[in-house]
Amino acid sequence: MDLQLSGRVAVVTGASKGIGLAVTRTLLNEGVRVVAASRRSTPELEALSGDLFHVPADLMDPEAPAGIVARAVTEFGGLDILVNNAGGPPPGVSLPRFSFLAPTDEDWRVMFEFNLFSAVRAVRAAIPPMLARGGGSIVNISSGNARLPAPMNVDYNAAKAGLNNLTKALSEEFAPQGIRVNTVSPGPVRTAWWTESGGAADILAAQVGTDRDSVMNQVAPEMMKLSTGRLAEPQEIADVVALLASPRSASTTGADFAVDGGFLKQL
Ligand SMILES: NC(=O)c1ccc[n+]([C@@H]2O[C@H](COP(=O)([O-])OP(=O)(O)OC[C@H]3O[C@@H](n4cnc5c(N)ncnc54)[C@H](OP(=O)(O)O)[C@@H]3O)[C@@H](O)[C@H]2O)c1
Repeated sequence: MDLQLSGRVAVVTGASKGIGLAVTRTLLNEGVRVVAASRRSTPELEALSGDLFHVPADLMDPEAPAGIVARAVTEFGGLDILVNNAGGPPPGVSLPRFSFLAPTDEDWRVMFEFNLFSAVRAVRAAIPPMLARGGGSIVNISSGNARLPAPMNVDYNAAKAGLNNLTKALSEEFAPQGIRVNTVSPGPVRTAWWTESGGAADILAAQVGTDRDSVMNQVAPEMMKLSTGRLAEPQEIADVVALLASPRSASTTGADFAVDGGFLKQL
């Protein structure tokens, strides 16, 4: 299927690793010109070929999203696609946390800054250049826990629920002007968030008295009742993002796509 994306311009946040890196690679392979934002670049990002440049930006800075979008406009002449992917544990935070009593006010604040407000600011900056092109596609990377509240990571889940709500509201307001807005909601995905030293797998391993590999391959899939029996790969999320970015999805807006191995059980 030709996704008709060639020559379009995208901003991808959190593009240096994990899901954002897979999204960036996938869009580049479709001929998209990509502005990739993260605090630091990585060898994996540098190795990608295509019309790509990296903008070093810290999304905890309220000015950063507008700066990233402005670079897309100056370098590539406009903006068609925004992928608000950066999210998860804010800088300096390790997840999971196991109780509502764990996060402080400050923890809640930084969680919402990173997972919701940075997307709000990026959308605010992206809409005028998208309107100038006659439309665009915004894909917000949410989480299955936006629709499945749980005692674990209450602050993260609430921020992602806000992102889903925002997405629906934006989709209603801007569909008549050609801007589509959707969420992709992963379940657990094999990224640095899980696999890095001190990451989610290590924290769960300490909790249940096992090792990182057992958590990744057995404990987490069982605990999260994944029908597929495994964590998703970043590419599996990226493929859905690319389809939503594409004009082939012209009638898809305000939708939430679970790419979660069967994590969500409800209809
Ligand atoms: N992995 C999962 O199991 C999972 C499950 C559900 C939803 N998600 C969602 O999927 C998205 C991506 O997660 P991931 O697991 O792929 O993440 P990841 O592998 O940990 O990568 C995070 C990306 O965000 C960037 N980043 C971190 N802090 C930043 C900051 N302050 N400013 C700008 N960029 C920053 C990182 O680069 P720098 O560190 O260089 O800035 C990196 O490129 C998130 O929204 C997350 O909530 C993930």
